[in-house]
Amino acid sequence: MRGRWGRSPCGFKSRPRHQPHPILKVENLSISIGEKKIVDSVNFSLSESEVLGIVGESGSGKTMTAMSIVRLLPQSAKVAGQIIFDGVNLLSLSEKQLQRIRGKDIFVIMQNPHSVFNPVFKVGYQVVEPLIIHRKESFSSSISKAERVFAEVGISDPKLRLNSYPHELSGGMKQRAVISISILSKVKLIIADEPTTALDPTVEAQIIKLLRTIVEKNRSAMIFISHDISLVAWISDMVAVMYGGWIVEYGTVSDVLRTPSHPYTRALIDATPQRKGKGIPGSPQDINWQGCRFAKRCPLAQNKCFSEVPPDNLYNSKIVKCFFPL
Ligand SMILES: Nc1ncnc2c1ncn2[C@@H]1O[C@H](COP(=O)(O)OP(=O)(O)OP(=O)(O)O)[C@@H](O)[C@H]1O
Ligand code: SF4
Ligand SMILES: [Mg+2]
Repeated sequence: MRGRWGRSPCGFKSRPRHQPHPILKVENLSISIGEKKIVDSVNFSLSESEVLGIVGESGSGKTMTAMSIVRLLPQSAKVAGQIIFDGVNLLSLSEKQLQRIRGKDIFVIMQNPHSVFNPVFKVGYQVVEPLIIHRKESFSSSISKAERVFAEVGISDPKLRLNSYPHELSGGMKQRAVISISILSKVKLIIADEPTTALDPTVEAQIIKLLRTIVEKNRSAMIFISHDISLVAWISDMVAVMYGGWIVEYGTVSDVLRTPSHPYTRALIDATPQRKGKGIPGSPQDINWQGCRFAKRCPLAQNKCFSEVPPDNLYNSKIVKCFFPL
């Protein structure tokens, strides 16, 4: 059964925030395209075996924030700030240096698994290709490893599937095959951008469980992006709520989603189908608006909110960008 808001197996679990080794530190990240600021002064960090959920309405900057880490952004995008991954500022690397990190240390799982595979090559070859390129392994030894990993992620008859063409695999099977690549490559960071949106609810639940297992078993870190707050609650340790290119609330799943402090987080939770919500009235504000970007939709807005940008304050163990938190 699909884990739903408030009933999910992992929802609101207060996992202790173990910080053995912060693998990623994003500091003052800003992204603009032309005059438009898409992401504005964003800060977060991530340790191994930890999942950061990024949630927010469409257009809030979730994908842009995550893709800036691997610099998969539109060519016209300008990025400022620091993205420290494993001690190195990724923004200071050349494209060639970054290419070595993509696929070897950082792996991106996109919404649509169908677009990952080239239809003319067999699945097996495409799954083991990073092992051959980045880790200089032989084809036969990497295919044996892939067979074991396919079985581990729940793909039936691994030998047959590895020897199949992509169109012979279902959507769920393909997404499992994509996840297998991240396991085989032993990546340190997985960026999963709406990885289950194209799947039916039963398969979605299985994939979410699988991703959580991998993070814990392989001690990877993961950024999990979704507009679905219940999925984020289910899988994440930490949550960043994004609105208009800002992170408006950031803290542990339990602190942010059990006792939201930002009016937008509150509205987002109330808008979920589980709360019989009907969406948040109004539409997202122009990102170049001078005051709080949520002001025109916020039930608590006061004069100040329309003219000044709220600071990031430490409030109830969270970072909250609001003059009048709940
Ligand atoms: N190629 C582009 N050129 C100009 N603006 C862009 C481009 N791609 C995205 N944007 C803008 O950047 C903002 C953030 O986009 P982003 O894709 O990060 O949103 P998102 O939160 O991932 O939304 P969704 O939930 O729909 O995936 C949006 O306002 C969008 O219009
Ligand atoms: S700063 Fe003002 S408008 Fe913005 S969320 Fe807080 S109360 Fe609402
Ligand atoms: Mg997106």
